Amino acid sequence: EPKIIRNKEEMRKWSRTMRAQGKTIGLVPTMGYLHQGHLSLITEAQKHTHLTVVSIYINPSQFAINEDLSTYPSDFQGDIQKLKSIPNSVDVVFNPQNLYDYYGVETETETEQLGVEEREGKIVCCLEGKGIGHETWVRVEKLEKGMCGKSRPVFFRGVATVVAKLFNIVEPDVAVFGKKDYQQWRIIRRMVRDLDFAVKVIGSELMREEDGLAMSSRNVHLSPQEREQALSISRALFEAKADAQKGKNICSELRRSVIESIEASGGKIDYVEIVDQESLETVEEIKDGVVVCVAAWFGKVRLIDNMEIDVA
Ligand code: PAJ
Repeated sequence: EPKIIRNKEEMRKWSRTMRAQGKTIGLVPTMGYLHQGHLSLITEAQKHTHLTVVSIYINPSQFAINEDLSTYPSDFQGDIQKLKSIPNSVDVVFNPQNLYDYYGVETETETEQLGVEEREGKIVCCLEGKGIGHETWVRVEKLEKGMCGKSRPVFFRGVATVVAKLFNIVEPDVAVFGKKDYQQWRIIRRMVRDLDFAVKVIGSELMREEDGLAMSSRNVHLSPQEREQALSISRALFEAKADAQKGKNICSELRRSVIESIEASGGKIDYVEIVDQESLETVEEIKDGVVVCVAAWFGKVRLIDNMEIDVA
């Protein structure tokens, strides 16, 4: 049964005590509402370290004011049950109330002016850090610009900052991220390299439902019809991969087919990009390893997915 820690001082103390006993620590950061994709990251982490910490924290700073912070799904008890069900149980669930220090925001008008949001009576979201307790942000300048960064300009700043905070609190030896969020994984790797975090970052394979849909906590918000339509994303990605392996290597053409199949099923494209796996820069013609990245809307739900294509 995992130990639940809600306080950051206690979390750091646990890690330091364990480390003094010669144990290595793996961290899997999540926002909860766990599914098989999250659990696969835990299994991966357990291959590398003695102990595993899973953090469950819906990080307000990575949501813009118009995004789905208030409807992001959560089920803490369900998550604990799932964590208990896996073969090697997790050692600690780190579930802080709030990782940011906010103060001095009392009225509704102030809330609005400062760009903060309330969740269960607590002020949790800070858009610009305008004098309300948090003003230091980590930006991975080039990697955060394209793809998801275009339509979600504060997203990666919030992600990189909270992950830096989690690394400082948990002090893990290894941290595992899913390649489902490909750009996020690359950004975290780059941050660790640029800022000399003593953490080894591991990318873990994208997990799909049996019908191909990439697993995501947000999938519960899809209606049965939207869920059916959303299968067009993975279908288009598998097709693009097959086409590329048959020698079709012009990215503009591959990209156009992906866009057309998703649109034909009723999805609204945010972006489809074919980029270098490391630099995430747009590629014209497939020579080395690329990744086809997609973000598309089905109703009110924005889904992302991707497919690595390695050419022999
Ligand atoms: P969340 O969306 O909960 O995802 C937590 C981790 O699970 C991420 O590393 C993500 O890439 C991975 N993951 C999600 N779906 C997956 C799938 N189908 N297959 C493999 N891995 C999958 O990503 C976040 O939370 C947050 O941005 C966070 C890093 C916790 C910072 O707040």
